[in-house]
Amino acid sequence: MKKILITGGAGFIGSHVVRRFVKNYPDYHIVNLDKLTYAGNLANLKDVEQYPNYQFVKGDIVDADFIDNLFTQENFQDVIHLAAESHVDRSISHPIDFVMTNVVGTVNLLNAARKLWKQNYSNHRFYHVSTDEVYGTLGEDGLFTEETPYDPHSPYSASKASSDHFVRAYQDTYGMNAVISNCSNNYGSHHFPEKLIPLAINNIKNNKPVPVYGKGENIRDWLWVEDHARAIDVIFHNAASGTTYNVGGHNEWTNIDLIRTLCKIMDRKLSREQGTCEKLITFVTDRAGHDLRYAIDSTKLQRELDWTPSLQFEEGLEKTVDWYLSNEEWLNDVTSGNYQTYYEGQYDNR
Ligand code: NAD
Ligand code: TYD
Repeated sequence: MKKILITGGAGFIGSHVVRRFVKNYPDYHIVNLDKLTYAGNLANLKDVEQYPNYQFVKGDIVDADFIDNLFTQENFQDVIHLAAESHVDRSISHPIDFVMTNVVGTVNLLNAARKLWKQNYSNHRFYHVSTDEVYGTLGEDGLFTEETPYDPHSPYSASKASSDHFVRAYQDTYGMNAVISNCSNNYGSHHFPEKLIPLAINNIKNNKPVPVYGKGENIRDWLWVEDHARAIDVIFHNAASGTTYNVGGHNEWTNIDLIRTLCKIMDRKLSREQGTCEKLITFVTDRAGHDLRYAIDSTKLQRELDWTPSLQFEEGLEKTVDWYLSNEEWLNDVTSGNYQTYYEGQYDNR
């Protein structure tokens, strides 16, 4: 049985990837390694935890000895690496956490894989899941391609850019079989409510202000998380060693248009008069170094591996709202305790 390590599987995207692999590939043994930080939640994987081909290991990728021992014991065939500190605002207040997990943690995994696989790199794949934020920001025109030079601006994107460079360096220096994908903003179920869409849904539901940074003119390219998980599946199985793919939804929205659309959906779902939820929109101080626009050209992935997004944004948003409204227990659990303290620190003086 092929044993595959998926890191960060208890997080938002990781849980969708783990679920997809466990259910679709019964002949793979999936090991989910996660530290269970504030963003990691095993409740995200309740529906697969009893599967015989699924195993959870709690651990920190920053701990090099632990990672080395785990690789030796488990003899992983391949790695799909998603574990990361992922929120830009947290990276502005605590950059070192991003250096440790995103850079040092990635290098620890590369070192352990290198030790285990050095006799035959070609049979073992190291798949690094990254972000379009490494490319920096776009003006009004243009799209990020795989050739766009790296130009990160936030501590988060700088740490992800650095980890991408290390993965490429291990490919070039040691001949490791590595692939990288850089994806645009994801949305969907199980998304921690510190990111724009789930935060807005939660606040609207509770009649709290919806904070929009600056004038809400920044643009993001939104992709349904299950389409990202499918892209990861396709790339993992079919990409040539050393390849990079951009993954995106061809779906650009200014933050304010997105929030207004969400408000209309929420008015309907919560049986409020149209226009009620929009009154909660509150413009707050802009994020420092706020990138203006992200937009991905995913032609290469479509042309070479026949991947396209499956869902229209309005349909995806509606499904997402439905999920949050019918999973109150999940939402209450993650919005209690630590999350509240963080939330107060972020927004009370904004
Ligand atoms: P997330 O914050 O929801 O989940 C991250 C997971 O990693 C959590 O389960 C957390 O417990 C775990 N983790 C954090 N530090 C760890 C450590 N030191 N050791 C082990 N586990 C640790 O993040 P996400 O949004 O699911 O993002 C997953 C990956 O995809 C990240 O690498 C991110 O950079 C990338 N990505 C995210 C997006 C997006 O829109 N969310 C877009 C493109 C790429
Ligand atoms: P976010 O979900 O944090 O993702 P990223 O910063 O990785 O793109 O933010 C998406 C956009 O929404 C970004 O332009 C910042 C903005 N934003 C707000 O306007 N208000 C908020 O409360 C948050 C969290 C984000």
